[in-house]
Parts: sequence; C-alpha cells; structure tokens
Amino acid sequence: MESPTPLRATRLGILLSGRGSNFVAIAASIREGRLPGVEIAVVVSNVADAPGLATAREMGIATALHISKGKGREAHDADVAACLQAHQVDLVCLAGYMRLLSPQFVAAFPRRILNIHPSLLPAFPGLEAQEQAFVYGVKTAGCTVHFVDEELDHGPIVVQRAIAVLESDDPHSLAARILAEEHKAYTEAIAMVAGGDYEIRGRRYVKRDS
Ligand code: GRF
Repeated sequence: MESPTPLRATRLGILLSGRGSNFVAIAASIREGRLPGVEIAVVVSNVADAPGLATAREMGIATALHISKGKGREAHDADVAACLQAHQVDLVCLAGYMRLLSPQFVAAFPRRILNIHPSLLPAFPGLEAQEQAFVYGVKTAGCTVHFVDEELDHGPIVVQRAIAVLESDDPHSLAARILAEEHKAYTEAIAMVAGGDYEIRGRRYVKRDS
C-alpha cells in the first residue's frame, strides 16, 4: 500500500468546551497515520470541567484552561490567541467550542481557523442544529467543516458529509449518526487544509492542482 503524501508540518490548536469527541477523533487520526505531518500543539478549553480537557490531559497532550465566564469577549480571546501563538499553532480547530469569536481573534489567524457544525450549512446554523433539521423534516442531514469568518457558521466550506434521515430517527439517533460523520469529516478537512495546496475562489475551496 502506498504511504500517504506527507503534509506540510502543521501544529493544531484545538478549542473545545465539552465532550471532545471530535478532538479524540482527530487525535486518533494522527496516531493512526492518517494525518502525516500534523500534530496537536495544545488543547484549550474555556470550561474547567470540560470532559475533552480531561481526556487531553490523560493523553499527555499540552492543555490550557482559559475560563471565559465573567470575562469580556475581547480580553478572553486575546488570552486564547496569545496561548495559541505561544504554542506556535498553525491551524486552529474549533471542536465544540461554545463561544462566538471576536473579529480580532479571527483576524489573528486569517483563514487558519476551522469549525465543525452538525448541519449541511447554510441550513440550520446556530444551536441544536440536528434537532432543527429533524423538526424541519429534511430528508438529508449532515455536517460541515468550514473556515471561520466573523459571522456565525458562515465561512467557506471545506468538507460536507451527508446522511439520509430515516423514518425511524429521532433527534438523538440523528445526532449520533451525524456525529459519526463529523469524526471523519474533520480529519478530511484538516488533510485538505494542512497541505496548503488550495485556494479560496469566492467562497469556494478549490484544490490548487485541479
Ligand atoms: C459537535 O456536534 C459539533 O459539530 C458541534 O459541537 C459538537 C461537539 O461535540 N460544533 P464534541 O465535543 O466534539 O463531542
């Protein structure tokens, strides 16, 4: 079997607020050789008891806690940006990070912030996207990995993965199947961005050699 093409060395900074299953999936992809040249430089949480933060500590990955509660958005984001820069992060991956980013933070990492959202954007931005999709009655649901800009769940799309909504689904079962796709989509998107062989034409991610 051919070994995967090495990607340009890329240090990830992962931002999370909760469970951290997308972070764990990215870490597994790195460990299992699906993201050559990519490493996790630091996992940052804004919530002290985020399970994902505990998991990162157990895995021996560098972690940082920057509690956002009671702090102004710009001050908090400046702390997090400084932390990411201190860890020489090239690509910021939002993985269940329940914070809107300030324009200053977005500007500090131009086109170097990815987010994962559990819907086929631009449908159902915001909270409880899977439930929104279920209640709306869509027949196809899914997830999106996109670059982050100043607007919520809005920047250029890198990867989408779609699944059929089943008659037997409820919001919980639908969310679980979307999550399984999220775990694949984030690795695909990191591979597509870390190599650097792409450009954004308008809103479109286009591979450079295509
Ligand atoms: C995921 O559904 C993701 O799409 C959304 O928040 C959830 C985070 O899950 N942004 P986890 O913490 O990665 O398990």
